[in-house]
Amino acid sequence: MPNRDLAAKRLLAVTEEELQRIVLDIHDGPVQNLFAALSQLTVLQSRMNALQPFPEDCIVTINRTINLLESSLGDIRDLLGTFRAPEFASRELTEIIEDIIIQHESITNGAVTLEMLKPLSGNVTLPVKIALCRILQESLANIRRHAGVENAQVEVKTEKKQIILEVTDQGRGFEPPPLDGPLATEKHEHIGLRGMRERAELVGGKLIVSSRPGAGTRVRVEVPVYE
Ligand SMILES: Nc1ncnc2c1ncn2[C@@H]1O[C@H](COP(=O)(O)OP(=O)(O)OP(=O)(O)O)[C@@H](O)[C@H]1O
Ligand SMILES: [Mg+2]
Repeated sequence: MPNRDLAAKRLLAVTEEELQRIVLDIHDGPVQNLFAALSQLTVLQSRMNALQPFPEDCIVTINRTINLLESSLGDIRDLLGTFRAPEFASRELTEIIEDIIIQHESITNGAVTLEMLKPLSGNVTLPVKIALCRILQESLANIRRHAGVENAQVEVKTEKKQIILEVTDQGRGFEPPPLDGPLATEKHEHIGLRGMRERAELVGGKLIVSSRPGAGTRVRVEVPVYE
């Protein structure tokens, strides 16, 4: 394996390990504390309700705090779910893709149509699997956050020794920043798009974002696979 490939593989493995550590740290630390705070407040709420009459504004504040905690915990749970390790090493890429889509549908109201021929031909290495799955997750997250539509289409196919992933929406679209060449975006606010570009390039592939305001968005990744 050429040096460049080895280095890319190591970098991806480290990134993935770090991500899983952060997920665990959030899950075991702040999430546990938020849960504890929520249950203490709930106890207080029922005691105060039993001790009527109680100042109305105190009860309103407690109720509002409980709602805030519940909604933050819901958001964090969604996020941790997105980044949980989908057991990349032991599972087929096609299975993991199906899972990511099912999970996405369960946290949105949208439907994702999936077109994928199984089994995929070619040798899908671990770094390729990780890159494609993380790009799929970020593309779906972007649709959920920015496209203004719920539905998406995902297509996965192999063509001329390449594996191709396309994620498309018919949402509001945007003016994509240049992702390669001298003008490639290094802007802080484009971490998601940059991360996708870097992940594709680390496995020898490329990322093409086609979008126009009002005309939807298509993210296409092409990654070489070897027999
Ligand atoms: N599917 C999409 N539809 C409409 N706009 C999009 C879509 N994907 C990306 N964008 C636009 O491109 C911008 C950059 O996306 P990018 O993923 O890099 O950052 P982000 O999603 O804003 O933040 P994060 O760094 O957390 O991913 C978004 O803020 C949004 O304006
Ligand atoms: Mg994003």
